[in-house]
Amino acid sequence: SWTLMDFVENKIKEIKGTIGDKKAIIALSGGVDSSVAAVLTHKAIGNNLKAIFVNHGLLRMNEVEEVESTFRDYMGLNLITVDAQERFLSKLKGVRDPEQKRKIIGEEFIRVFEQEAKKEKDYGYLIQGTIYSDVIESAKSGKKTFKIKSHHNVGGLPENIDLNIVEPLKELFKDEVRSVGEILGLPREILYRHPFPGPGLAIRIIGEINEEKLTILKKVDNIFIKTLKETGWYDKVWQAFAVLIPVKTVGISGDKRSYGYVAALRSVDSVEGMTADWSKIPFEILDVVSSRITNEVEEITRVVYDISSKPPATIEWE
Ligand code: XMP
Repeated sequence: SWTLMDFVENKIKEIKGTIGDKKAIIALSGGVDSSVAAVLTHKAIGNNLKAIFVNHGLLRMNEVEEVESTFRDYMGLNLITVDAQERFLSKLKGVRDPEQKRKIIGEEFIRVFEQEAKKEKDYGYLIQGTIYSDVIESAKSGKKTFKIKSHHNVGGLPENIDLNIVEPLKELFKDEVRSVGEILGLPREILYRHPFPGPGLAIRIIGEINEEKLTILKKVDNIFIKTLKETGWYDKVWQAFAVLIPVKTVGISGDKRSYGYVAALRSVDSVEGMTADWSKIPFEILDVVSSRITNEVEEITRVVYDISSKPPATIEWE
């Protein structure tokens, strides 16, 4: 009978058979799919798998450290972190258009990944965390479908690398991928994380990005997510995050007038992200989040909660 335990066992054998004693690379993002694909492949070929994690500087607070401690220290993977923060920031300087941001980040990501991959000559395989719904999506996305956003997924395929592609999760649904991850011993925090877009915080800062705005948004987002976790709401919603609106509004700090940015909180209930309802998080919790943000992040004078559903609003603001 078909069980996921059998799947894991057979897949490991299959990967061993395919790759043998050659070497493989994977772009690890810390998202569910690439994480499970990496750990599954690591079980099959051990340190002949090199996982490359590109830090583009548009990640959430402590994300780099969490990925490193989970995959290198806890799961024992052969993991390389590429610090490409300055590279991405300088490419994004002055760029305001969301699709332009996506394009730059997608292309730059591939370049950084390629550079890292080419450092070693004997890599024969590229592992990808493609899952069943991605296969369906790309089959559907013929020329006729109208795309609202380009949805660059970090980990997009490098074109000038001569590698064989292995997609060990291709026949699995998302919930099966999570179960496989559990069987392989991946922590819950990785497997039940909210979706996070490839271009990261770049599309959650409206308009131009800089280091100052990134620092502010990381703090705000962290407060929101931490509070949702403390109150048990993190697992009840499909995706939650903060957005930085770089419009200055007036506030009072102590007995002085202050002038700071607006933070928007977005939380949605959804199945696949195609449609979404705004989450009915209790006012008491939003109240706690709001005061924590304005108390702890001095650059923010005002917090708003996004009560738009999709459609017509998309989940991300850009
Ligand atoms: P939207 O904003 O289109 O988002 O309603 C639907 C889901 O897709 C995610 N999203 C992206 N994911 N690259 C990604 O990998 C992108 O450019 C991108 N844009 C949106 C979004 O976070 C939500 O889960």
